[in-house]
Amino acid sequence: MAATMTAADIAQRDERAVANALKIRYTPFVMERGDGGRVFDGDGRSYLDFAAVWCLSGLGYSNERVRSAVIAELERSTFAGLVSGINQPAVELAERLIDLVPGDWEKKVWYGLSGSDASEAAMRLLPQATGRNRLVSFIGSWHGTHDGTMGLSAHPSLTGVIGGANVVKAPYPDPCHPPFLGGARNLTDQCLHYLEHYLFRTICDPQDVAAVFVEAVQSDGGDVVPPPDFMPKLRALCDRHGILLAVDEIKVGLARTGRMFAYEHGGVEADVVLLGKSLGGGLPVSAVVARREVLDAATGGALFTASGYASGCAAALAVLDEIDRLDLVAQSAANGAYLGECLRQALGDFEIVGDIRGLGMIQGVELVNDRASRAPNQPAAAKVVYRAWELGLIVYYAGNWGNVLEITPPLILTRAEIDEGVAILHQAIRDVLDGKVSDEAVAAFAGW
Ligand SMILES: Cc1ncc(COP(=O)(O)O)c(C=O)c1O
Repeated sequence: MAATMTAADIAQRDERAVANALKIRYTPFVMERGDGGRVFDGDGRSYLDFAAVWCLSGLGYSNERVRSAVIAELERSTFAGLVSGINQPAVELAERLIDLVPGDWEKKVWYGLSGSDASEAAMRLLPQATGRNRLVSFIGSWHGTHDGTMGLSAHPSLTGVIGGANVVKAPYPDPCHPPFLGGARNLTDQCLHYLEHYLFRTICDPQDVAAVFVEAVQSDGGDVVPPPDFMPKLRALCDRHGILLAVDEIKVGLARTGRMFAYEHGGVEADVVLLGKSLGGGLPVSAVVARREVLDAATGGALFTASGYASGCAAALAVLDEIDRLDLVAQSAANGAYLGECLRQALGDFEIVGDIRGLGMIQGVELVNDRASRAPNQPAAAKVVYRAWELGLIVYYAGNWGNVLEITPPLILTRAEIDEGVAILHQAIRDVLDGKVSDEAVAAFAGW
């Protein structure tokens, strides 16, 4: 029966049966299957994927080795978690992740099922491990959608939730939208000086701060790449006050930026590394890799029945193998630079394109009313994304003001596919400027 349904039929049923609470929709796209860097709807239409389901599908779709690893584990029917029993894939994965995360100190690994779980576990265990109750995060950050992690985050779409009483939010050095009147010069110093010499002296004693949570590229905040001195200076600030550094690599980690972890671009080490999304190769798997004393702070203090389930860990092991085998760190660096260059060449002359930035295979195209005002143009982003879907490209928009086309393709995309996707984006912007997408067409899609 399902096979004879059209994509439009399924979309209608989704509208009636599936909760809006979990929807950020841009188009009525119905995914029937995926292959490599392409996805297909039930009507046989093929789309190039510039979104990778918010970076879930780092390896693209239908990866044979990941699939085989999962099937092999399911056939053993272990259904094993780690809470009250031990399974080998989980232990092996923990050892792999410990080796992968830079830092010559004793580490352990914690498992959850979503990125939010990982952030939540870290924000719970860090105060217990350090005896310090406060946390610092950055404005524009997205660390999760549990009550705790919404309070830890500081993205405009999450600020309706009042939470995070123990979290102090500091300005992020966004070169395109500098938070202080001084503009983009000395941006890192402006932001970190405010944290260290104002917030720490007024509302937040640094001796009470367990950790600073940070994204080395702030993705949902608008694919913001901070200045190169930000991570080293933040690390130094943490060290001055005995504060641990927790980096959220859930979206940008595992080869996307051209390093295994995005924070490595800053030449620093982290005390806590959060992983999720692409780690499970399509299955829900997240992890925290951290100093032993953090993750051992409270036995049984952060767990789920399925934490560390064997088939998920087997999938993650296969994902790590594939990143090595396909040399995806180097490929993301090279193809990401190519992608950025193509975007600048193809889109840079449009008056509504205010900025193009990124690191490796995460790029953001900021749409504005005009370059003089740089006022965010969210309606144009909604229409471009919709038009791109009509033309055969899946892409989303994000950002603090919902006006940044977020380009995070599967890491396996070829240069020919990059060319194809950028050409569609160009056409989509041209068509929107020519009035080919009506307000009514996008009205049903709240987006962000
Ligand atoms: C940087 C970052 N951290 C955490 C999360 C939360 O991950 P999840 O949606 O899997 O809970 C997200 C999700 O978008 C994210 O982008």
